[in-house]
Amino acid sequence: MEYYKKQMSRLIVLLITIMMIMGDQAQAQLDSDFYRESCPSLFPAVRRVVQRAVARERRMAASLLRLFFHDCFVNGCDGSILLDDTSSFVGEKTAGPNNNSVRGFEVIDRIKSRVERLCPGVVSCADILAITARDSVRLLGGPGWSVKLGRRDSTTASLSAANSGVIPPPTSTLNNLINRFRAQGLSQRDLVALSGAHTIGQAKCATFRNRIYNESNIDLTFALSKQSSCPASSGSGDNNQATLDLRSPGRFDLNYYRQLLNHRGLLTSDQVLYNNGSTDSLVVAYSRSLNAFYSDFVRAMVKMGDISPLTGSNGQIRTNCRRPN
Ligand code: HEM
Ligand SMILES: *[C@@H]1O[C@H](CO)[C@@H](O)[C@H](O)[C@H]1NC(C)=O
Ligand SMILES: *[C@@H]1O[C@H](CO)[C@@H](O)[C@H](O)[C@H]1NC(C)=O
Ligand SMILES: *[C@@H]1O[C@H](CO)[C@@H](O)[C@H](O)[C@H]1NC(C)=O
Repeated sequence: MEYYKKQMSRLIVLLITIMMIMGDQAQAQLDSDFYRESCPSLFPAVRRVVQRAVARERRMAASLLRLFFHDCFVNGCDGSILLDDTSSFVGEKTAGPNNNSVRGFEVIDRIKSRVERLCPGVVSCADILAITARDSVRLLGGPGWSVKLGRRDSTTASLSAANSGVIPPPTSTLNNLINRFRAQGLSQRDLVALSGAHTIGQAKCATFRNRIYNESNIDLTFALSKQSSCPASSGSGDNNQATLDLRSPGRFDLNYYRQLLNHRGLLTSDQVLYNNGSTDSLVVAYSRSLNAFYSDFVRAMVKMGDISPLTGSNGQIRTNCRRPN
């Protein structure tokens, strides 16, 4: 009898342990060591390709960072933005916020084929985007961080989701930005810190035309100088580029916030962050402290990378990032 009781309590302890382990897996946390055994040289392999691409064209770092943002905001960080159209769905590449604007797909392809040679069928395209975003920021002098991994890839993509406004337009009001970020579980602090990504890269005339001709919370000299390469009427000048950060578009610094203080934000969605609203104090804080900006940016990037990942047996590990297996 005593023996039975002992065995019974052992069995119960064992069952509880198993249930706890399974519960853990159901929660499916991402983990920075996810590929430690299955693909030990993943990080240097990715970094080398990003390094080469950015050495050839510095702006590519900005484009790769933006790819990760546009992936995560549409049905989570699942690599869906990388899918080409198929006979069964139209992908996200031609959606309003993406068409003729997101770039860097060839770099992701190069990384993927290198990683496939090293560890076939193991590393997801969604995770490659996350690592690539981190490496891009580092290469332009920004902060580093430990990237959480273990995402799997979607088998489909959604043009309508990408067009639904989940990615806010550059004409957004502050309220719209706050609501769009909140819908993804991101705070006002995350919004202001992540917008600091506009310390690198470029935007097209069509995205800031209304701001430089029609808005009043803009520095006049700045508006006039941007108008010289962005004609008032839409048409031939639509694709003319301007840097989002005036002074140092190739460095991941805090100049983006400084120029907001001077009413020199290029996009409406940039300047609304400093326009007598609830986020002004954050802009001021980041304009004064690289550490404050970096630490909030890093935290927000990790948070953005946590948006609805596919894990466990959901999704797949695509062999080619452009199409489902
Ligand atoms: C807050 C809402 C945001 C809006 C409304 C917005 C809008 C835009 C627009 C309109 C462009 C120019 C696209 C073009 O003309 O081709 C752009 C560029 C860029 N965005 Fe954002 N963005 C936002 C947030 C973010 C976030 C959260 C990130 C990343 C963490 C990001 C990273 C970038 C980068 C790096 C570029 C330059 C890309 C390049 O040069 O190829 N943006 N953004
Ligand atoms: C995307 O851009 C191409 C080339 O400019 C254009 O022909 C096409 O109509 C655009 N697609 C959508 C869905 O807007
Ligand atoms: C300025 O605003 C007016 C009125 O909303 C609009 O008709 C016009 O197209 C705008 N101009 C530019 C360059 O965006
Ligand atoms: C904010 O308010 C101040 C004082 O009322 C005003 O001078 C300024 O033009 C307003 N707008 C911006 C963008 O700071």
